Amino acid sequence: MEAKSIKELLENGWLYINGIFELNSFKKILQDYTKSEFDIVENILSPHKIGDKILTLSKIYGLDQFPFHTDGAQYTIPPRYIVLENKSEDEEIANTNLIDGFKVSAGQENLFYNSIFEIQGNGFKELTPIINCRKIDKEKILRFNPEIMISVIKRKKTILNNLINNYPRIKIKWHSNDYLVIDNWRMLHSRDEVNVNSKRKIRRLSFYIKNYE
Ligand SMILES: [Fe+2]
Repeated sequence: MEAKSIKELLENGWLYINGIFELNSFKKILQDYTKSEFDIVENILSPHKIGDKILTLSKIYGLDQFPFHTDGAQYTIPPRYIVLENKSEDEEIANTNLIDGFKVSAGQENLFYNSIFEIQGNGFKELTPIINCRKIDKEKILRFNPEIMISVIKRKKTILNNLINNYPRIKIKWHSNDYLVIDNWRMLHSRDEVNVNSKRKIRRLSFYIKNYE
């Protein structure tokens, strides 16, 4: 992992890697650059492996297309970065799509920074703007998940959904040995519809900032 790649990630909000990905060296360089320390949580994502305890997008949507969302939008501080690794045996699997939430918010400051939404789910409840600048010094945190966020003014959620769903998306087509690093405080991601016979399997590493939940 080169420092150049980290710069690309910080500039664009995402980074695509094909080939070798060294988790420890990536973590170290990222920590040096961002002056943060991370705890990493690993999950295997598969449309056929659905847990029964908590409500997840896999449970709600199954094989259907996922809406754009932030991972862990129901946490006060969601994971800072996520790394997705293609572990599928299939040659072709459903695309992952990205949009830059900060770009979508340009010209829509009132909606993104000043309108209050309620996040509710899995026992969690919070009132927050979509982009919150107050949780961590000098950092903006974008949180969005249409399944668990409601606005008192219904029209606002409709406008927000339309903006996000009509914004040009970056399509990530998966190959073997592919990794995708996502700035989860800035980018929204979604997944295309999955074929019923697909053995799509993605390893997800969530980088939580230490000392925050
Ligand atoms: Fe996700």
